[in-house]
Amino acid sequence: MTGDADDLKAALLTRIEAASDLKELDDVRVEALGKKGRITEQMKGLGALDPEARKAAGQALNVLKETIATAIEARKFGLERDALNAKLVDDQVDVSLPARPETMGRLHPISQTLDEIIAIFGEMGFAVAEGPDIESDYYNFTALNMPAEHPARQMHDTFYMADDQGGVDMTTVLRTHTSPVQVRTMESQKPPIRIIAPGRTYRSDSDMTHTPMFHQVEGLVIDKKTHFGHLKGVLQDFCSAYFEIDDIPLQFRPSYFPFTEPSAEVDIGCSRKGGELTIGPGEGWLEILGCGMVNPKVLAMSGIDPDEYQGFAFGMGIERIAMLKYGIPDLRTFFDADLRWLKHYGFVPLEAASLVRGLTP
Ligand code: DAH
Repeated sequence: MTGDADDLKAALLTRIEAASDLKELDDVRVEALGKKGRITEQMKGLGALDPEARKAAGQALNVLKETIATAIEARKFGLERDALNAKLVDDQVDVSLPARPETMGRLHPISQTLDEIIAIFGEMGFAVAEGPDIESDYYNFTALNMPAEHPARQMHDTFYMADDQGGVDMTTVLRTHTSPVQVRTMESQKPPIRIIAPGRTYRSDSDMTHTPMFHQVEGLVIDKKTHFGHLKGVLQDFCSAYFEIDDIPLQFRPSYFPFTEPSAEVDIGCSRKGGELTIGPGEGWLEILGCGMVNPKVLAMSGIDPDEYQGFAFGMGIERIAMLKYGIPDLRTFFDADLRWLKHYGFVPLEAASLVRGLTP
């Protein structure tokens, strides 16, 4: 190799080593090996040499070309590795830091309330069951002891589904309550049964206290000796835990539901002193749910022998208990999707409701 070639090699290797980024390195590559590069130009010059000299110079140039190309590759690898390491250092996250409290998003009060309900009943050994929003007339009514023409059906302002001819399909409804999940559970599970079934429900009704879609949670316990005392105990424990008031007064008023016998409505104590509503001991009562002992006819229709098994059920409006606990005055605002409302009444999403850590953040 000539002294010129040696100098060129040394110069190029120094530049390659010194290249501080990929762009600079590529400039060196183009300058050496590109179409008009210094090595390329020398290759072109080989034609002018006599065959003997051409062979020797050609081999030397090929070696030089290889050496430079290899050096560029090695430097490129080094630069990329350095860049990655720098980025990793830059992006480093201290996973031991606590989460930032000020996240933008908020949990909707319905989601929070649902989490709380599930945490409380979960602690009592209840499993969560689900059923479809689009329900058959059989599960929504008939199997709950409301045969066709039963007057209780009228109270539900039912949404029926459309049929293929543009008419009404009287056999398919948007479920008017979560009670059909009771029937589905009894059909598919053997006692002992202990479930809650939260979910959306629908009624054709809209004013200050009604929205066409709302949420309920159903409860169902079936075993051999489950009695009304157990029902009272479960509801008392639930209300104390949910409202976070140990001595919350509960009142059971006789009522009527076709699917329970006897049936009751439950009120919690409240006070309206000073024009402000406070949940807890006081002179007033607020209705929060319906309940009772499952009607033996419902057990039998669901395939459970009423001579062997008995149990209780309850149904509660989720918006209603959320409004009472969190002082939300208007039901319709739950479904306005107003971000200012959500920022005010919503919950920080990372604080999961739990009985041990506390229900509410
Ligand atoms: N399904 C009833 C309603 O929507 C609520 C209810 C009452 C559910 C009594 C029950 C119950 O399970 O036992 O009005």
